[in-house]
Amino acid sequence: MKFTTLTPALLGLTASVAAYTVEYSTETGYFLQDESSTDASTFDYAAVNFGLINRTYPADSHLKKHRDYSQWERFYHQVQKLNQDSHKDIEYKVLFLGRHGEGYHNAAETFYGTPAWNCYWAELDGNSTTTWKDASLTENGITQALKAHNLWQKLINEQNIHTPDNYFVSPLTRTLQTANYTFTDLSLPRSAAPFNPLVKELFREGISIHTCDHRSSRSYIHNLFPKWAIEAGFTEDDELWNGVTGETSAAQDVRSTTALNEVFFTSASEKDEAVVSAEKKGGGRGPVTSSSVAWTDSPHCTVPPVTSVTACVCPSSAVPVTTPLVTDL
Ligand SMILES: *[C@@H]1O[C@H](CO)[C@@H](O)[C@H](O)[C@H]1NC(C)=O
Ligand SMILES: *[C@@H]1O[C@H](CO)[C@@H](O)[C@H](O)[C@H]1NC(C)=O
Ligand SMILES: *[C@@H]1O[C@H](CO)[C@@H](O)[C@H](O)[C@H]1NC(C)=O
Repeated sequence: MKFTTLTPALLGLTASVAAYTVEYSTETGYFLQDESSTDASTFDYAAVNFGLINRTYPADSHLKKHRDYSQWERFYHQVQKLNQDSHKDIEYKVLFLGRHGEGYHNAAETFYGTPAWNCYWAELDGNSTTTWKDASLTENGITQALKAHNLWQKLINEQNIHTPDNYFVSPLTRTLQTANYTFTDLSLPRSAAPFNPLVKELFREGISIHTCDHRSSRSYIHNLFPKWAIEAGFTEDDELWNGVTGETSAAQDVRSTTALNEVFFTSASEKDEAVVSAEKKGGGRGPVTSSSVAWTDSPHCTVPPVTSVTACVCPSSAVPVTTPLVTDL
């Protein structure tokens, strides 16, 4: 499992007013992360200006001649121009997608090996010395988040990068901590939006039967970061994780699309007349997403498995079961 990859992406949005369907696509040619020549296993976002490709843009010709603009300043101007010139139903936004730093569950997966982790240990809350249910960041994970923090500060200072206008964070402890270490105590430009993240239920990674995907209660999150906003309707206990079935990729796509629609059509787009009028025409219900997709059974052993480098092999040839291993649900 990989962690702390930072992926800025320029997304183009096409909203069809009548049918309310929304089509998202990424615009290539701006970030190395979107180029097929980039090897994700060796890519280091911090070494290459967050991946922003060194280039000129069509909008450069509209800039004032008497001063030098940084690559990030010219990029911001280019995105503004894309929005000005596009059809009213098309909107461009830049997303900075940050993954969490290393958590105790990542360290434990390395310790036990992935097959044994998946088919037994990950279904427990921890072992006698470590807890990995809704895991916290390890020291290494904190260092990884601070690396992102340092890059942001450098790009603010050296290139006047436009920092995010809105911040959203998943409700898992490791992601809350990663956002905190990344954005707290940054010296932001005077005109920048402050770091006031909104905790959103649907901005989670794939939800498996592993206890690391079982979020803590709303009260716990509120106590950890008392000043952070938690979205309306966020339940006290996690109602998505069940410990028996795992979310499929198709189901995750539906969930992620719903989350993206919430971001595009509520907070950030309040300023955008075109999208507000699109919502009105649809009876104020917001964009349509396809209905939910079934999750799938996730067999596991009930005692530590036979060590195997390729698959889940339970002792005595016992067949993996689909009953919950942890009973404190
Ligand atoms: C852009 O050029 C600068 C030096 O001119 C270099 O340091 C940087 O890594 C380059 N960025 C990318 C994404 O290639
Ligand atoms: C528990 O798991 C951790 C890995 O996360 C490992 O370092 C530790 O030795 C394990 N404890 C026991 C008692 O096996
Ligand atoms: C949040 O980040 C700040 C700054 O790095 C740090 O001092 C603080 O301990 C962090 N809080 C939590 C709950 O992780």
